[in-house]
Amino acid sequence: MTGKDIWDAKTYLQFEDERLRPALDLIARIPHEAPKLVVDLGCGAGNALPVLAARFPTARVMGVDGSAAMLAKAAAAGFETAQADIGTWAPAAPVDVIFSNAALQWLDGHEALFPRLLECLAPGGVLAVQMPSMHAAPLRAVQDRIAREGPWAEVLQRVKSAPPILSPEAYYALLSPRVAKLEMWVTEYIHVLRGEDPVVRWAMGTSLRPFLDAMGAEGSKGFLAAYAAAMRAAYPPGPDGAVLLPFRRLFVLARK
Ligand SMILES: C[S@@+](CC[C@H](N)C(=O)[O-])C[C@H]1O[C@@H](n2cnc3c(N)ncnc32)[C@H](O)[C@@H]1O
Repeated sequence: MTGKDIWDAKTYLQFEDERLRPALDLIARIPHEAPKLVVDLGCGAGNALPVLAARFPTARVMGVDGSAAMLAKAAAAGFETAQADIGTWAPAAPVDVIFSNAALQWLDGHEALFPRLLECLAPGGVLAVQMPSMHAAPLRAVQDRIAREGPWAEVLQRVKSAPPILSPEAYYALLSPRVAKLEMWVTEYIHVLRGEDPVVRWAMGTSLRPFLDAMGAEGSKGFLAAYAAAMRAAYPPGPDGAVLLPFRRLFVLARK
């Protein structure tokens, strides 16, 4: 992958169970009986790889990611991995299942990317994708607002976190003419988070990374304080201290 590696597996995996849950829901619904090759695109630290291997015991399962820091954990668990940018990734042979959990939202140009991924599938192959759809929620909207307003605005001018994904209608228009079967659904998970400023810690593992990386640890302090205050107001803790974070995710399951 080109550019700096902004990922940190330890920060990302603080909410391991919550982040794995949509992957489990998606893997359970993949309509393929006996794939030979399964690729987890943007596999990160590889949390979904054992689940894919258990669901498809006869398949060769491999993880692809741009981040060496994330891949190191997947490789240490004994999985086949490859470092590549999803934007230019091309498999050596047609793939039976391309699975991607919480990764494709980091890439622009889904109008070209999704058809290209379909072309990487073998006949009867499945593209199974889950992407957060959170741009309108305070979690994401406040990041963009604070980035534009504070003394850090100039440094962050050109920094972009994950762009908004397309609408379900747009994915339908893009994919339905190209596949035999298309299923889509949206689930809003209610993540129950605990501890100090848990929403900030959640975002520090994902969507805040590009901002924090651009400012450095020292420069991020004011930004993080402003963001934490806004998150406490948007997602106040309940009587037992738990913070409920509603998290909307779009699922796309396309069979060629
Ligand atoms: C939020 S993590 C999800 C990781 C994993 N799929 C999971 O569910 O735990 C997003 C992952 O996408 C990867 N990623 C983002 N953009 C990428 C790109 N253009 N090429 C390759 N990997 C990319 C990041 O390196 C990161 O590991």
